[in-house]
Amino acid sequence: MKIITIANNKGGVGKTMNAYQLTCHLANQGHRVLVVDLDSQANLSSTFGVQITRTLIPEWLIGDIGIDEVVVDSQGEGDFHKNVSIIPSSRHLANLAKLLILSEQEIRRTAGRKERLLKKRLSECTDFFDYVVIDTPPMLGDELIMALVASTKILIPTQAQDYSIDGLEELMDTFEIIKETENPTLEFAIIPSMVNKRRKIEQQRMQELAQSFQITPPIRNLVQMQESISNKTPVFMMNKKTEGYKDYQALWTSLDLN
Ligand SMILES: Nc1ncnc2c1ncn2[C@@H]1O[C@H](COP(=O)(O)OP(=O)(O)O)[C@@H](O)[C@H]1O
Ligand SMILES: [Mg+2]
Repeated sequence: MKIITIANNKGGVGKTMNAYQLTCHLANQGHRVLVVDLDSQANLSSTFGVQITRTLIPEWLIGDIGIDEVVVDSQGEGDFHKNVSIIPSSRHLANLAKLLILSEQEIRRTAGRKERLLKKRLSECTDFFDYVVIDTPPMLGDELIMALVASTKILIPTQAQDYSIDGLEELMDTFEIIKETENPTLEFAIIPSMVNKRRKIEQQRMQELAQSFQITPPIRNLVQMQESISNKTPVFMMNKKTEGYKDYQALWTSLDLN
């Protein structure tokens, strides 16, 4: 079971977009995919047709309830949905840090440390899924740390702009610490996201990014990608000649997911 986290402590960079497209792509290939929505904004949950008032993620992490009690089926048009299971989020998850403090003793008993909770819970369901895709909130909090500890790979969508690139340093520092202490085999890839190729400054920033990090082929800023989310139609269902389809095909190939 491969565990892929989409992360960036900056908001609006395409995390949820990439988590959605990745999940649908893998499910369409016949893989059984578990989506874990760790963002209290629950955008990914609602794109998969799931809206709940109160998430049970804290109870599941602590070990009070089993995976069968938190997981729900994804809803929507297309056969691929049958391969997608969701652990949905809700506003309530914004209090995760507080809820975990209240359960400190239980955490020590079941996982040792709170960073390891998600890893522990996911290790209990390796027989049921081929992939886990984790969407994360735009901050370096407990959700992101837990996801990094549990993951095989982290995908980092980044816009080719100054502030976005500056913000990467903080995330990469955290990545290095987790790699040294908890997860030595953790890999990462940076995905240039919402790129406008006609802007010279973005081209320049992309080149700079490529000098410091291994980057994947870019995903362009395209109206059809926004439509993909609002129509709940993943990019693999689009015409093969569209830019969105081509960009994502190149991305999956570079990540060895084709
Ligand atoms: N490649 C793209 N082209 C155009 N719009 C995009 C693209 N990727 C994401 N968006 C849009 O940008 C906004 C932010 O993306 P989102 O995935 O929600 O970011 P995050 O999860 O990092 O906050 C959304 O409205 C989304 O539909
Ligand atoms: Mg998001």
